[in-house]
Amino acid sequence: MHRNILNEINMNKLPNADDDAAFQAADAAHHLHPFTDYKGLAAEGSRVIVRAEGSTIWDSKGTAILDGMAGLWCVNVGYGRPELADVAARQMRELPYYNTFFKTTTEPATALAARLAELTPDGLEHVFFANSGSEANDTIVRMVRRYWQLHGQPDRNVIISREYAYHGSTMVAASLGGMTAMHKQTGMPLPGFEHIRPPYYLRDGGNMTPDEFGIAAAQALEERIQTVGPERVAAFIAEPIQGAGGVIVPPDSYFPEIQRICRRHGILLIVDEVICGFGRTGNWFGAETFGIQADFMTLAKGLSSGYMPISAVMVGDRVARTLIDEGGEFYHGFTYSGHPVACAVALENLRIIEDERLVERVRDDIGPYFQTRLRELMDHPLVGEVRGIGLIAGIELVRDKDGPVFFQPEGHAGTICRDHCVRSNVILRAVRDGMVTAPPLVITHAEVDHLVETVRRCIDRTQADLGL
Ligand SMILES: Cc1ncc(COP(=O)(O)O)c(C=O)c1O
Repeated sequence: MHRNILNEINMNKLPNADDDAAFQAADAAHHLHPFTDYKGLAAEGSRVIVRAEGSTIWDSKGTAILDGMAGLWCVNVGYGRPELADVAARQMRELPYYNTFFKTTTEPATALAARLAELTPDGLEHVFFANSGSEANDTIVRMVRRYWQLHGQPDRNVIISREYAYHGSTMVAASLGGMTAMHKQTGMPLPGFEHIRPPYYLRDGGNMTPDEFGIAAAQALEERIQTVGPERVAAFIAEPIQGAGGVIVPPDSYFPEIQRICRRHGILLIVDEVICGFGRTGNWFGAETFGIQADFMTLAKGLSSGYMPISAVMVGDRVARTLIDEGGEFYHGFTYSGHPVACAVALENLRIIEDERLVERVRDDIGPYFQTRLRELMDHPLVGEVRGIGLIAGIELVRDKDGPVFFQPEGHAGTICRDHCVRSNVILRAVRDGMVTAPPLVITHAEVDHLVETVRRCIDRTQADLGL
């Protein structure tokens, strides 16, 4: 199949992946990849992925690779769904594009808005569409500031987030995020963004119980509000589980305390569900897993299972009523907001998740199995913690479990382990010295077994490489 496509490409005198070396040279010469060290990639050459099915992807050499990351935490219904391709083709033939700017809509956009209002928790009844998680979070920042402006408090514009948070890569989304390496490269965070410590129990828990620590970590929000001035703080943003930050799972006590603090100060609460949404934690949304009542919800990734670029902002009643009743025209939007093909695909994706009971599967069957099997790795001398819920997990490697003592320099051991996994044809990602995994919701029990056994072998090899 890939040969046909590539022959077509060749007819246009473009590089041909049948000749891997030439194709890799063309890729290195012309293609700037996201989050990539360009010289490093040019030396190594890109792996060309040509097809996929279920939880498996294939490269141009015919190697089958188990995708323990569901692409980038997004292919919830798994690869190779003909229904989604059919819906896209049908919608493209019927109406490939029309905008939703000037008092127009399309059937898929309105139907998806209504469906999302139904699926998300009560009080989130309005939807604004964008194309990526980053754009959705930018949209939220604009709505938050507009909300406080309309309430006569234009100086209430500071948004508090957390270290290691990931909310996207535009200037605003990266400022919301707590990735210092990103900040350092391009003068971020922009003014008006603050970061508190995350509820990272393994690193900061000390002698506290998880619940004591959850309260203490949430108190960092109260302290920062007092430092900034409660009259300046507009909103707090959090992922239910910090994904790209290393799968940091909050203790049960954390979010109730965060919620209390936000309510006490009238601060808007934004829950970024870009990773946790659409079944990953065993509920439709991470907010349900952690009992969070949010004023905004960021949705992307699993909304279309990555088959089309689409994101959505769920806007709570408090903000929606202000914007609708008092706001006049809101000067914000994207050419592709509510793109009919993306919306049609998202609707069909949601139908699949519901009809195949994938959320229940994660909650009752494959999620507990995945977590139980991964926790067997805790007996390995290098594994300091296995944490996660449903089909998202982090396996943190430490030099010594006693303490724990973390590796120095940070990230070295994690990278070695990740490279062993990739060479063994199982995709996991390294975050600092942790391995993170979030496979498609359709991963089988046998594939989970294969993933866990491969990871154990790769941790053994990492231990040998480090001479421990
Ligand atoms: C929690 C979270 N928010 C936002 C984003 C940004 O999404 P995008 O890459 O679609 O802009 C990501 C991406 O990984 C994410 O994990």
